[in-house]
Amino acid sequence: MCILEVLFLIKLLHFINAAADCSISTCSIGDVPVRFPFRIEGQQPRNCGYPGFDLSCNNQSSTVLKLPHSGDFLVRDINYLTQQIQLYDSDNCLAKRLLQLNLSGSPFLGFFHQNYTFLSCPTQLVKSRFTTINCLSNSTISVLATSSLNLVNEMSSSCDVISTLKIPVSWPVKYNEGFTSDLSENLLLTWFSPDCNKCETQGSMCGFHGNASQEIGCFYDSKKGKSASDLRVFGIFILLIGIPVLVCASGIAISLYLMPWHPRTNEANATQRNSTIAAVSPQPTILVLGLDESTIESFDKLVLGESKRLPGPNGSTCAICLSEYNSKETVRIIPECKHCFHADCVDEWLRMNSTCPVCRKSPSPAHVRSSNI
Ligand SMILES: *[C@@H]1O[C@H](CO)[C@@H](O)[C@H](O)[C@H]1NC(C)=O
Ligand SMILES: *[C@@H]1O[C@H](CO)[C@@H](O)[C@H](O)[C@H]1NC(C)=O
Ligand SMILES: *[C@@H]1O[C@H](CO)[C@@H](O)[C@H](O)[C@H]1NC(C)=O
Ligand SMILES: *[C@@H]1O[C@H](CO)[C@@H](O)[C@H](O)[C@H]1NC(C)=O
Ligand SMILES: *[C@@H]1O[C@H](CO)[C@@H](O)[C@H](O)[C@H]1NC(C)=O
Repeated sequence: MCILEVLFLIKLLHFINAAADCSISTCSIGDVPVRFPFRIEGQQPRNCGYPGFDLSCNNQSSTVLKLPHSGDFLVRDINYLTQQIQLYDSDNCLAKRLLQLNLSGSPFLGFFHQNYTFLSCPTQLVKSRFTTINCLSNSTISVLATSSLNLVNEMSSSCDVISTLKIPVSWPVKYNEGFTSDLSENLLLTWFSPDCNKCETQGSMCGFHGNASQEIGCFYDSKKGKSASDLRVFGIFILLIGIPVLVCASGIAISLYLMPWHPRTNEANATQRNSTIAAVSPQPTILVLGLDESTIESFDKLVLGESKRLPGPNGSTCAICLSEYNSKETVRIIPECKHCFHADCVDEWLRMNSTCPVCRKSPSPAHVRSSNI
C-alpha cells in the first residue's frame, strides 16, 4: 500500500512540476529531460522554448523532434551544456534517413561531417566481405556506405553509385580505407543559437526574460528561474512525499514492533525467524533484498559493438553510473523490462535490490523465488 501511495505521489509531483512555469518535463519517467531551449508541445507553455526547438511525445511516450524537411526523429539524448542532441530513427534505418536528410529550416547542424558514397552491389559479391546496410538490402541487392574513394573505385565495375553525400556523423573516421559502415550510430546534431553555454556552465538556467520578450536571459537570482522554482518544488516534495513516507515508515515500525519475531524477543534462531517471515507476510517477495549471483548471472549480457546500440528502451548513458556507454563495454539486460546498464553497475545493485533501478519492475517470480531461500 505504501509503495503504491508513494508512486502515486511521485506521479502527481511530476504533473505539478510540468504545470509550473518552465520547469523540466519528460514524455515518460526516465526519458530525456526537456527544458529551454526545448519544450514539449502541450506540456510546457510556448515561451518556455525557443522557436524551432519544439518537441512532442508520440503514442509510445517517446520524445519526438520534427525536422521541417526530413520528418520525425526520436530523441535519444540532449546535452544542454555542449548543445548537442542525439537522434535516432524509429524504424532503425538511420541510413535511409541520412540519404534524404535536409536540415535547412531547422536550427540544427551536423557536428562532424564525412563524405559517404552509397553503393548498390550484388549481394553475392559483397556478402560477408563488407558491412552492409541491412535495412536497405535484400537477397539480390546490398547497399554499402563508404568514405573510402579507393573502395568506390575498386567496386565501380560491379556496383552502382547511388549517391555521394556529406553526412553528419558522431565521429569522423580518418583511417578507414576499404571499410564500409552500416551508419547505425545516432545522428548527432548541434545548435549555435540560442547560445546558453555560458549560462549552463555556471549551473544556471537559460530562458526568455518575460512572457512576451524574445530576449534570452540567464536565471540564477532567487526572483526567477531555477532556484525559485527548485525551492518551490522542493517544498512540494517535502509536503507530498516526506509526510506520507514518515507515516508509512512509522506504520512499518509499529507493525515490526508488534510482530512476534521482533529481533529483541527472538534473536537466537535465525533460520526459524526466516520461516516465520515467510509465514507472516502475505507477500514474501517484498522481503527479498537482493538477488543471488546465479540469478544475476542468468540475465543476458551483451558486449557493445562499434555502434554502441542497445536493445529496447535504452539511452546512451548508464542510469546507475551516469557515464556514456562505450564500445566493447559489457552491459546486462534486465529480462522483464529490457533496461540495460553496465554489468558492473547493475550487478552491484541487484545484489542489494531485486528490482530494475529504472522502472522498479521485478524479475519474474521464478527469478525471485529461486533467490528467496
Ligand atoms: C502510433 O502511431 C503510429 C503512427 O504515428 C501508428 O502507426 C501506430 O499504429 C500507433 N500505435 C498505437 C499503439 O496507437
Ligand atoms: C532542402 O529543402 C529546401 C526546401 O524544400 C530546398 O530549398 C533545398 O534545396 C533542400 N536542400 C538540399 C540540399 O536538398
Ligand atoms: C567532401 O567532398 C567535397 C566535394 O564533393 C569536398 O569539397 C569536401 O572537402 C569533402 N569533405 C570531406 C570532409 O572530405
Ligand atoms: C531488391 O531490391 C532491388 C532494389 O531495391 C529491387 O529492384 C529488387 O526487385 C529487390 N529484389 C527482391 C528479391 O526483393
Ligand atoms: C503570458 O502570455 C499568455 C499568452 O501568450 C497569456 O495567456 C498569459 O496570461 C501571460 N502570462 C502572464 C503572466 O503575463
